[in-house]
Amino acid sequence: MKYVFILTLLVVAAAAGLWLTAVVVRWNDDMTQTVRIVPGERVFPMPAGVVPRGGELVIPKDQRDVAARQANPVKTSPASVAIGREHYVTFCVPCHGPDAKGGTTGPVATKFIPTPDLTNAELQKQRTDGYWHSYIVVGGAVMPAYGEALSSREAWHIVNYLRSVAQK
Ligand code: HEC
Repeated sequence: MKYVFILTLLVVAAAAGLWLTAVVVRWNDDMTQTVRIVPGERVFPMPAGVVPRGGELVIPKDQRDVAARQANPVKTSPASVAIGREHYVTFCVPCHGPDAKGGTTGPVATKFIPTPDLTNAELQKQRTDGYWHSYIVVGGAVMPAYGEALSSREAWHIVNYLRSVAQK
């Protein structure tokens, strides 16, 4: 009889110990051991048609023809060109060069890919403001996108700056 009592006590103690261990382990895990998505691990595409708060609808790269038809909402002016130039110097000079002449006038372009001459009158005529705005916001074939670094409006200012350096 005595043994049955001790055995029951042992079983209960073992069960309690197991339960306590499980609680302690789970507590210490603090949900770090569960299946989860680490920030930056995956890029989720935004559902079609969503508009970022405080931003503008970003037309994807594969719809450049749609973006190209967008009218420039920022009227060109010396002030707009000056803002555009400022951003151009910050973000674009490394590849496109200080005068937007392209080729290898930008220090990065010598190691990367020579860029087109953006002052070229023929190219200027061919491209709409919307097309270039889209190039800045979502990037080109190899050119990186600047939609994260620049607002849509700032990109339009840059387009106005690029128009101001067109070869006559
Ligand atoms: C890392 C280098 C790099 C940077 C930085 C860069 N570009 Fe480009 N850009 C390129 C290359 C390379 C091309 C040509 C190949 C392509 O279309 O991707 C190009 C093409 C272009 C075109 C020509 C599109 C056409 O009409 O065919 C425009 C306009 C342009 N870039 C504007 C800009 C502006 C404005 C910035 C700054 C916000 C900028 N780029 C920053 C490398 C760069």
